[in-house]
Amino acid sequence: MSAALPATVAEALAAARGLGVERLDAQWLLAHRLGKSRSWLLAHDTDALPAEVAAAVLADLQRRADGVPLAYLTGTREFHGLGLHVTPDVLDPRPDTEILVDWALELLAGELAVVETPQVVDLGTGSGAIALAVKQGCPRSSVRALDASHAALAVARANGERLGLAVGWLASDWWSALPPPPVHLALSNPPYIAAGDPHLPALRHEPIAALTPGGNGLAALEAVIAGAAGHLLAGGWLLLEHGYDQAEAVRRRLAAAGFEHIGTRCDLAGHERCSGGQRSLPGPARLA
Ligand SMILES: C[S@@+](CC[C@H](N)C(=O)[O-])C[C@H]1O[C@@H](n2cnc3c(N)ncnc32)[C@H](O)[C@@H]1O
Repeated sequence: MSAALPATVAEALAAARGLGVERLDAQWLLAHRLGKSRSWLLAHDTDALPAEVAAAVLADLQRRADGVPLAYLTGTREFHGLGLHVTPDVLDPRPDTEILVDWALELLAGELAVVETPQVVDLGTGSGAIALAVKQGCPRSSVRALDASHAALAVARANGERLGLAVGWLASDWWSALPPPPVHLALSNPPYIAAGDPHLPALRHEPIAALTPGGNGLAALEAVIAGAAGHLLAGGWLLLEHGYDQAEAVRRRLAAAGFEHIGTRCDLAGHERCSGGQRSLPGPARLA
């Protein structure tokens, strides 16, 4: 039996409650379908919903209850102050990834401030979130971004064009198709969830290749670290997002690959979520 259509804003919020959808998510979905703000909703609890809006909202609520990310339903995600378009072809960018962006911008404004046009690469760009946020925060940087998924690159490229941020987009299996010049700063939030992780089923609406490289979850992180030698300038930095329990493994691999000044950044809950280091071995060239 199909659920009754909600006649008013209040009824739609009640339907959301019945489906186990959070009130805030339901408000965003309603606001999106009505073309109004959330604050408008608060003052119009008893307003009648047009039948087509009621049907669309109910379908949205049912999909949200099934675990579809809110961003896929509204088509947008705010990331580091940018309004990104997202589709099921890309990972829904997470707030935790802003830690990586902040670290990158600190380096660009600090140690790399002497470099007139720092070369930056984002490996596994998805929606373009990291690359676009870095270009926005550091306009003097030359940013390239790559992904193995052509569908993801189309979303990222469209985001760059809409936001007026010039990033070079490239289809590549990690570093393999990245042409010179070598880079001062490499950033990556690769797939890192282990194949058997109990959280994976709940993420089933996002692209599996964006979530897990299979096995113990470390293969993509290892590929990015291993490939850095041919593309990262001596003195350049590699920053990686990883799982809350992978920091030690990532630091060990960075050290084994010859990185120095290895550090880790935590999220607000105190979990170790990003690790990085500086390449000190002789690379293709020195920092300019
Ligand atoms: C965790 S998502 C990160 C997306 C985006 N950077 C973000 O932070 O929201 C990982 C991305 O890596 C890409 N990817 C997976 N395997 C890859 C490979 N072998 N080479 C390049 N990109 C790959 C996926 O398509 C996906 O877009």
